[in-house]
Amino acid sequence: MTVGVVVPAAGAGIRLGPGSPKALRVLAGEPLLVHAVRRLRACPSIGPVVVAAPPAAVAEVVALLAAYAVTVVPGGAERQDSVAAALAALPAEVELVLVHDAARALVPVEVVEAVVSALRDGADAVVPVLPVADTVKQVGVGGEVLGTVPREDLRLVQTPQGFRREVLEAAHRAAPGSLTDDAGLVEAAGVTVHTVLGSAEAFKVTTPFDLLVAEAVLARG
Ligand code: CTP
Ligand code: MG
Repeated sequence: MTVGVVVPAAGAGIRLGPGSPKALRVLAGEPLLVHAVRRLRACPSIGPVVVAAPPAAVAEVVALLAAYAVTVVPGGAERQDSVAAALAALPAEVELVLVHDAARALVPVEVVEAVVSALRDGADAVVPVLPVADTVKQVGVGGEVLGTVPREDLRLVQTPQGFRREVLEAAHRAAPGSLTDDAGLVEAAGVTVHTVLGSAEAFKVTTPFDLLVAEAVLARG
């Protein structure tokens, strides 16, 4: 079964502070998006890749990724719009789809392959997860603690998230909106979402501190 990847990369990167869109911010000499796509291309299972680029930077992204055989489409206003636009551009032969945030630029090949394996083993949907290290509390509107949430039951969810194509497309058709996570759409449709072990290196670059961490990870090699 052919595995395709859609890469939402059209976000502004507001939490990174002023500058170019996040996917184009430079990390160790190259844009985040180039790091992300290179890692995807290093995965033996991966076929077609479609990137949803910032609409004003489509030509720039096409040029940056010329060596990686990807299709580039303009992204949308919300992440989910960007995912839908990229999904629509995947070739017909793609039966298994991964959705991978450009912002998770340092995802290890092993995490991608673990997601693909779970799909090949028959899962409709699969997400990489990590245990929660911190104690988690629920707070009220005034900031007062309402209770402690047992963290043993909680997981932090990463990407790539993998789906049988028809399951993801049906969920998108059923729930146009703006969830931050594709598995959430599929859950809402009643589909069981499986988990595999993620990686600390698949963290999402969100703040300037995360760029420092990413530089350190790359420097370590
Ligand atoms: N994304 C997208 N289209 C959007 C919004 C987000 O393709 N309209 C992508 C981002 O480029 C990123 C991923 O979705 O790869 C996860 O989003 P996030 O980390 O929130 O990135 P930004 O939206 O760019 O950051 P911020 O929320 O700080 O502006
Ligand atoms: Mg965002």
